[in-house]
Parts: sequence; C-alpha cells; structure tokens
Amino acid sequence: MACIVAADEDDAPSFPPVKTKAHNLENVEKPANGDNSPVQEPLTGEERTTVPLVLSFDNLTYNVSVRPKLGFRNLISRRKTDNPELVLTGRPSTKTLLDNISGRTRDGEIMAVLGASGSGKSTLIDALANRIAKGSLEGTVKLNGENLQSRMLKIISAYVMQDDLLFPMLTVEETLMFAAEFRLPRSLPKLKKKLRVQALIDQLGITNAATTIIGDEGHRGISGGERRRVSIGIDIIHDPILLFLDEPTSGLDSTSAFMVVNVLKKIAQSGSIVIMSIHQPSHRVLCLLDRLIFLSHGHTVYSGSPVSFPRFFADLGSPIPANENIAEFALDFIRELEGSAGGTRALVEFNKKWQEMTPPSSPHSNLTLKEAISASISRGKLVSGGESIGTTTTALVVPAFANPMWIEIKTLSQRSMLNSRRQPKLFGVKVVAVFITAFILSTVFWRLDNSRNGIGEHLGFFAYAMSTMYTTCAQALPELLQERYIFMRETAYNAYRRSSYVLSHAIVSFPGLMVLTLAFAVLTFWAVGLDGGPTGLLFYCLIILASFWSGSSFVTFLSGVIPNVMVGYTIVIAILAYFLLFSGFFINRNRIPDYWIWFHYISLVKYPYEAVLQNEFSDATKCFVRGVQTFDNTPLEELSYDMKLSMLETVSQSLGKSITSSTCLTTGADILTHQSVNQLSKWHCLFVTVAFGFFFRALFYFSLLLGSKNKRR
Ligand SMILES: Nc1ncnc2c1ncn2[C@@H]1O[C@H](COP(=O)(O)OP(=O)(O)OP(=O)(O)O)[C@@H](O)[C@H]1O
Ligand SMILES: [Mg+2]
Repeated sequence: MACIVAADEDDAPSFPPVKTKAHNLENVEKPANGDNSPVQEPLTGEERTTVPLVLSFDNLTYNVSVRPKLGFRNLISRRKTDNPELVLTGRPSTKTLLDNISGRTRDGEIMAVLGASGSGKSTLIDALANRIAKGSLEGTVKLNGENLQSRMLKIISAYVMQDDLLFPMLTVEETLMFAAEFRLPRSLPKLKKKLRVQALIDQLGITNAATTIIGDEGHRGISGGERRRVSIGIDIIHDPILLFLDEPTSGLDSTSAFMVVNVLKKIAQSGSIVIMSIHQPSHRVLCLLDRLIFLSHGHTVYSGSPVSFPRFFADLGSPIPANENIAEFALDFIRELEGSAGGTRALVEFNKKWQEMTPPSSPHSNLTLKEAISASISRGKLVSGGESIGTTTTALVVPAFANPMWIEIKTLSQRSMLNSRRQPKLFGVKVVAVFITAFILSTVFWRLDNSRNGIGEHLGFFAYAMSTMYTTCAQALPELLQERYIFMRETAYNAYRRSSYVLSHAIVSFPGLMVLTLAFAVLTFWAVGLDGGPTGLLFYCLIILASFWSGSSFVTFLSGVIPNVMVGYTIVIAILAYFLLFSGFFINRNRIPDYWIWFHYISLVKYPYEAVLQNEFSDATKCFVRGVQTFDNTPLEELSYDMKLSMLETVSQSLGKSITSSTCLTTGADILTHQSVNQLSKWHCLFVTVAFGFFFRALFYFSLLLGSKNKRR
C-alpha cells in the first residue's frame, strides 16, 4: 500500500491546481523518452497551474417501475406477500437503482465507481453520460457549474460500453485506423494518424495482436481481453474531454488492466475527466485512481479519495488488516452487511456523517464551461477538430463531426467492403442461392411456347421470379442487425453522421446487386425463351436490378425498426408472402375486395410483375391462341379436329366474322387486359420500383434517427 500511505500524507482538502501539458498532435513523431505516445505524457509539477474543468453531480436518483408478473405462481402465493393487491392487479412497484448519489471530480482525475455486481455502477455511469432519458433521472449533472447540453456532451465525451461491438473480419490495426479516420480531422496527415494508432496499440499492450482479425463465433480471432482493449482504443483515439468507461478492465489480467488504467491516467492528466466503473482493482490500479464511489444497492457507502479509505474503516471500527487489498476488503465487508438483517443502512448513514466530519476536497473552476472547453481545445484536446479563439473569450467553435460527409461515406464504404471481402462466403451463398433458383426455374420453364398453356406458365414464372429478388434480400437481415449495434455505438458519440451511414450502405450494396441481377437475368431470359431481343433483355435486367434495390432497401429499413433476428425474419417473410399474394398473379386486381386493394398498390412485387408482363406480352402481333386451340383446357378439347372446325364455323356465322383454324384469338395485348395490367406502362413500373427503394432508404434514415437514441427510460 505504499502509494496510499504516501498519498495519505498530502491528502489536503484542496486540490493542487493543475495545468495540463500542452498536448499537440505535432508531438506524435517525436519520440520523447523513448515513448512516442501521441495520446498523453505525464505531467511535471511546474505545469500544473489552472483548474479548467469540474464535473459535479448532485442527488442523482433513478427509479424504475417493476410490474409484477400476473403468473399462476404469484396468484397462489399472494397470501404470503405484504401487498396481495399488488400481485392481483399487476400494479407496478418502484425500484430505486440510484439513491441520492452526489460527487465531484475534475480534470486530471480518474473517478472510479466500485461495488458488487448489481450495485448500480453501470447505472451511475449511464446517468453521468446522459444515457438516461430526461424525466426519469432526478438530480443534476453539471460541468463547471453549467448543465451540459446533449449536443455538446456528444462532441466532447466518449463512452466505452461493457460489450465489445466490432467488425469481426477487420484486424486490430485496421479497426483502430478506421476509428482514427472517423475521429481525427481530415487536416491530419495519414502518417500521423497511423503513428497515433501504433502508439495506442503499444500503450494498450496489444502489439502482438495488431495484425490479427477481431473474429467472431465462426472465425477465431483475438482474445476477449484484447477485444476489450480494442474497444477502449476506438473511443479514446480522439482524446475526449470527458471519458466514461463501463468496466474497462473486466476480463483482463492484472498487468493488462494496469496498462489500460495507466493509459486512462495519462488521458486524465492531459486535461480530461475519466469516470469508470471497476469490479476489483488491484493494488497497482488503485494507486492510479483519484476518487472512489462505493455503491451498494444504489446507495453510496463510501465516497472520497482511496487514500482516506483506510481511515474511513478505522473510524468505522473495522480497520483494514495490513497487506490486505482495500478494495477486496471493502467489497467483502459490504457483501457481508448486505446479507445481514439491517443491510448496509448503518454504513450509508456512517458515510454521511463521516463526510460531514471530514468534508472531501471540493474542486471548483473559475472558468465558464465555454471558456474551459475552449482552453482544453487550445491545448490540443479534442483532436476531432475543435477550434477555439483564445482561452478567455467565449468564442468557441466545436464542429459536431471531425470530417465532412463525403469523407465519412468514403471511409464507411471502405470499411464495409473490406469486412465483406474477408468473408466472401456470405456473398457467395447469395450468388449460389440466386443461381440455383435461376437454374431450377430455367429447367422447369424451359423454352416456354406461345400456346394457351404457355400463357399460364409464363405468368407463373414471372410471379415466382419477381419474388425471388425479395426473398434473396431477406437473407441479409442478420448481417444488417449485427451492424446496427456497431452503428449505434459509433453514432452515439458523433463518430459520423447517420446520413453518411445510410448513403454508404446503399452505395456498398449496389455492386453486389448488379452481380446477382446478371446471374439471374441472363440465365433465365435465355433458358425460358423470353421475348423482346436485346432491348427486352436490357429492360428485364433493369427491372430485376430495381427489384433487388427496392428489396434490399426494404429489408434494410426493417433492420432499423426490428432489433431481433427471429422476429425480423418472421415479419419479413410474412410481408413478402402478402406482397406476392396481392401482386395480381393469384387474384386479379378487379377481384380483390375493396378493403384490401391498398395492399395491392403497396405490394413491391406488383410493379416488377406488371413490368415483365408488359415486356413479354406488349407485342400486338404475337399470338398465343389460334383457331381450334381455343378449345384447349376445356371439356371440348376431347372433340375431333373436324368437329372443332365446324364449331368454329358456327361461331363465325353467329358473330358475323370469319374465324378459321389460323385466326388469332388471343394476342399478348389480350393477356395484359385479362390480367388488368393496364394502369401503368412498364417504364412507370420500373420508376415506381426504383422510387420504392429510395423511399425505404429514407425511412431507414428516420428509423435510425429515432431508434438509436439508446437511452434508458
Ligand atoms: N429496467 C430495470 N428494471 C429493474 N431493475 C433494473 C433495471 N435495470 C437495471 N436494473 C437493476 O439495477 C441494478 C443495477 O444494475 P447495474 O447494471 O447498474 O449493475 P452493475 O453494478 O453495473 O452490475 P455489474 O457489475 O454486474 O455490471 C441491478 O440489480 C439490475 O438488475
Ligand atoms: Mg455493469
């Protein structure tokens, strides 16, 4: 406990003023003392002169309502409950996750939230990082005495969540390099971005894994601890002013955990506030922490410096034995109390009194929030491209995003293509699926003839073929959902614009759709013997491409509103089946009940289906039923040829027009009329299909805008 004993001696109530070392990206290339870290370097005493940033939070209280289940068991055991009415009515009760939590920390410090599992650590971090919806959280969180606007918080802070959400097929280096591309300003040369990434890799201790892929269930990649460190690296690469981390050291061995906290300490010392939750810090890690908040069931059981911790327990009458890790001791002690009859209430009360007796140092800042952020930026903080004009003026320009939109689209597209290129199987499966469908359709509908039977077979082929595009697109749902969570993590703190993501998504998917289109269109057009020659083939390709486009947009949109794969699949497949049902193939538009006709018009399959019918049957000279063929597929089919001819003659006389064995009775135009394909031309159908694609992309954007707030209620 050397660091704690030593620190205890100068545990003065007031904080020494700190001036952060001017942190300049230009330093990246200069190896200082063998460490060319572009992140931060330790401070020297003489540089500590100002106190720019103080984060204070007061009386944070967060309640959630818990609705008891109206289950059979609850009904049986209701006599045993204190409030049987609660069980019977299912009325919600309230659970307090945070109870009047207050504290204060400033730049240069790491504040650690400790406590047993379920004590409320993540909840407190969420409350401080503005991840709990307004109205649900009571109390205040202020930076330099001012309420932090959500927009500003997004720009100056970063949040490292407990789960690691990363692209599986990118290497560690590539992952961090893409983060650097998103977060660091365009003006910074690529070489410097690379050096920054390399330095971060060294500092996080993942040099050996730098060229290994992240991996997932199907691909062996880096270890869990290494993933953790990559996740942290992504969010600290731009040197945020406020950094929140939920258990950054979980799953790490003690050396790695120390390395990670050491990096965080350097970030803090360069003028940031670091707030993190941690399970069981080792002695070395504890030495790097400046403030602790110990929680138990949402109550504060200790708040203050780690150096005062032994004195707290000594005053409580339970001195920490020598050579015992104080965090472990405290956790065991609190757990025992939690299991006892009175719980931790007495400890909470003791802490309140102890705080009054030995008030913790209360840092304050003489700068307004704008001045403080401005001062931080002028020292090289927020390398995402903030500009400030002087440290004392209120003029502050902090762009919400580090890069212009086109750079974001380019970087997002590059990353997505790299990730897809590394797993060619995913696209390969789609090509094979389309190819097999095209092959089966080709053999079943091989060289269709222009006969009465041929008409029905053409219609069946077109209906099935045009729905194939949509079902193929539905297979992308799991991929889209996996990416959705990465997107949410990245956009939560302004790595890039949502609109850039939507556009890059559309751009990246398009070449793949063209390959699928060619594979399907060329094979079936030739094998089925479709009409129209080269121009017919061209239109056939265009309408198939448009169908793939609208289908992929539709499924992409659904992935934005349905977060679950199984539910998503069920809904997509059901909707596609309804689209086919109302396309006009199974039931003619004139026969669809009025109350369902709207579904016919929103059916994505209707428009490509009608377009290909027109492409095939619009030739007025093309004949499908001639003379005696009119009796085919009727009971009169059994009659002899001569009988059929004489019947035709009788009909001719009745109608007053000559019908011979070669007279055309059903042309392509007749088929279109019979199918009620007479409202839109084939080009209009193509236009509507393409427009649907754009419409669903726009809806996807709005779904991301509304659905990715990611805040607790
Ligand atoms: N919506 C909710 N409804 C009811 N209880 C909830 C809700 N959200 C969280 N809790 C409870 O709040 C408590 C605190 O959760 P929190 O995730 O903050 O714990 P933690 O200290 O971070 O735990 P861990 O160390 O395991 O991550 C837990 O007991 C959890 O079950
Ligand atoms: Mg947690």
